[in-house]
Amino acid sequence: MKILIVNGPNLNLLGTREPTIYGADTLDEIMNRVIDIGKTHGVEIVPYQSNIEGELVSTIGQARTQYAGIIINPAAYTHTSVAIRDAISASGLPTVEVHLSNTHKREEFRHVSLTAPVCVGQIMGFGATGYELALLGLLRILRP
Ligand code: DQA
Repeated sequence: MKILIVNGPNLNLLGTREPTIYGADTLDEIMNRVIDIGKTHGVEIVPYQSNIEGELVSTIGQARTQYAGIIINPAAYTHTSVAIRDAISASGLPTVEVHLSNTHKREEFRHVSLTAPVCVGQIMGFGATGYELALLGLLRILRP
């Protein structure tokens, strides 16, 4: 079983990007931990990151035939992208939305997620651990 992790814009900068908000771990460190947890569950985790909306849309659009589910942090596109929302919906794959920060405690424009309504659930405010929680939640859905 394969699970795709999609990371949106500026998440490639984790480690140095506003560490008081997003933590000190790099994206590679976070993804490697999830990959290791996936291995203990017999699941292959495939991480992907792009700063470009169309690339994210295309990657989600191709996921259907290869993956059992998606974990996504759409980053700033969470609040703006109908295209990413439509791609998640079109994939038909169970998708969990993750945010490192609790966006409800931040600026008002971050309070709305266009993507959450097409996801099975949303995890936010737990920093990098959110990706691990998302994997456990997704596995419960995939292997009830
Ligand atoms: C984020 C929250 C978004 O509002 C922001 O634009 C990000 C990261 C998070 O993980 O907390 O880039 O998705």
